Amino acid sequence: MDPLCTASSGPRKKRPRQVGASMASPPHDIKFQNLVLFILEKKMGTTRRNFLMELARRKGFRVENELSDSVTHIVAENNSGSEVLEWLQVQNIRASSQLELLDVSWLIESMGAGKPVEITGKHQLVDAFEILAENSEFKENEVSYVTFMRAASVLKSLPFTIISMRDTEGIPCLGDKVKCIIEEIIEDGESSEVKAVLNDERYQSFKLFTSVFGVGLKTSEKWFRMGFRSLNKIMSDKTLKFTKMQKAGFLYYEDLVSCVTRAEAEAVGVLVKEAVWAFLPDAFVTMTGGFRRGKKIGHDVDFLITSPGSAEDEEQLLPKVINFWEKKGLLLYYDLVESTFEKFKLPSRQVDTLDHFQKCFLILKLHHQRVDSGKSNQQEGKTWKAIRVDLVMCPYENHAFALLGWTGSRQFERDIRRYATHERKMMLDNHALYDKTKRMFLKAESEEEIFAHLGLDYIEPWERNA
Ligand code: CTP
Ligand code: MN
Ligand code: MN
Repeated sequence: MDPLCTASSGPRKKRPRQVGASMASPPHDIKFQNLVLFILEKKMGTTRRNFLMELARRKGFRVENELSDSVTHIVAENNSGSEVLEWLQVQNIRASSQLELLDVSWLIESMGAGKPVEITGKHQLVDAFEILAENSEFKENEVSYVTFMRAASVLKSLPFTIISMRDTEGIPCLGDKVKCIIEEIIEDGESSEVKAVLNDERYQSFKLFTSVFGVGLKTSEKWFRMGFRSLNKIMSDKTLKFTKMQKAGFLYYEDLVSCVTRAEAEAVGVLVKEAVWAFLPDAFVTMTGGFRRGKKIGHDVDFLITSPGSAEDEEQLLPKVINFWEKKGLLLYYDLVESTFEKFKLPSRQVDTLDHFQKCFLILKLHHQRVDSGKSNQQEGKTWKAIRVDLVMCPYENHAFALLGWTGSRQFERDIRRYATHERKMMLDNHALYDKTKRMFLKAESEEEIFAHLGLDYIEPWERNA
């Protein structure tokens, strides 16, 4: 094995953090009292962080070693806004709207100027293409949605940061429109189009409305046209009718918008296994979705359940599980969707269609394991959190396909299906793989076998994020 290779790509060991005495430096006068900075170590490294902290302090900035409530500005390098938000979520810190998330360029300019410079678009950490994709989604422009999502995921997967147009040469999925935007960001530090979207009333309202569980584009459109701009006004309006799903969405809004952490996902996993195994002890329960791909946070927790046993037991399981949680007082909301699965149906031609398995969309009450110290964001006295959970029950024969389908990401699913259709003359969906040349279904016991049928090397779940 190449030693250079292992040195750079192996998992990084955690180094003990350097604190206090060994780094002692003379105290500096704080010139800017209403600014409290915190410099993020992630992707910047300890050495550079220490250097920047020391320099900023010498220039009269107040820089904290640890992230506390008093921090007003978070400075990061090579992180996007959503990466910093994700990091904050994992630390169990809710970003308030007053907290500025800034690129290191702001700190460097400020130190150069000897005072904090005005914050402009180019200092703020934003995900340009994700915002444009989201805006296209709100406008139901599928083509431009796909264009921007691809650009976003390609740029994310690059091992380097683009600093000039030369860097974009040879990168796939970057059309003229996308390149134009990249060029503008390189030159001006911001994109006028992204800025316009962020300030657009319709975009802002749709983002707010769709953040409620059960509210999609149609409802958002309706509320927007009726002149609503805030959730409070909507909730207290006596003339509006809400679905059962939306009522739950409003009721548990705070919990549901604060993302699920891995620890919470694992705790839900324990609940799911306990309930499933009470009725079907030989069932397999697998956590799928973003958490299986190694994500640290998610908007819900997804599980695939399958059992080699009888079809009748299979059908009865989810209703029994729901009943079990109801009795324990853990069931806050559920929607059970019955199976429409047919065994010899050809896989769908469309890359985006939903599957036919029996499934249940739930909101569960997760009791806190232990009382968090300090930076907890729990409401006073509340000892639980509402968590979105998806359960899918599939016939044992189809479990490998269901697992591949429910692991995602959505973009990965689209890409692998497109590959099967165009490169292999096969049809793949969450249920099966059909070879059109041989006119037969190809069976698989595991994801590895599906990749082999497709003539692809196995792709690990954590490599399926783009
Ligand atoms: N999926 C599906 N059919 C559905 C819903 C989801 O096949 N009706 C698949 C999608 O491929 C998706 C995966 O299940 O990638 C998980 O869906 P979801 O929970 O929406 O997304 P995650 O990737 O888990 O991301 P998040 O953290 O936001 O939950
Ligand atoms: Mn999920
Ligand atoms: Mn889900």
